[in-house]
Amino acid sequence: MARILSTIKKMLLGILLLAAAACADDNEEDLMPQQSPQQCDTNTVTFSGSVAPILATNCYACHAVNIAEGGVVLSSYSGVKAKVDQGRLIGAITHAPGFVPMPQGAAKLSACDIEKIKKWVNDGALNN
Ligand code: HEC
Repeated sequence: MARILSTIKKMLLGILLLAAAACADDNEEDLMPQQSPQQCDTNTVTFSGSVAPILATNCYACHAVNIAEGGVVLSSYSGVKAKVDQGRLIGAITHAPGFVPMPQGAAKLSACDIEKIKKWVNDGALNN
């Protein structure tokens, strides 16, 4: 009887170890994409080439001339520059305390998009 129990225990242990190994494999696959993240190229950031397209995709639905939610117009350089000068743009997209998180009702911008906008602001928020 004791031997049978011992055999069963060994079998159960074997199954557990196999299951653990399988899980470890799964995790490795899941983590792979994160280990080699896509390159975020912030070297050649411009308003027209980088920032405006991000804002067009994520912000114009509420912040273009005809809509201007909260009085914010982001579909022109001058409108964006005004928010930068007021120090309201980066806080909104990084969801900093004291800012209304943007884009409202949608997921935060990707880390790369945020980096590009920050870089453009740090470079002087030029109309380039
Ligand atoms: C679904 C509509 C919607 C979208 C999309 C949206 N906004 Fe807004 N945004 C609003 C509204 C409404 C307000 C006014 C909120 C308030 O004052 O409570 C606002 C306010 C702001 C403000 C002023 C916030 C402050 O704290 O001074 C900024 C800056 C802003 N939005 C930037 C953006 C940016 C950048 C995007 C795109 C990444 C974006 N918004 C996308 C609706 C939107």
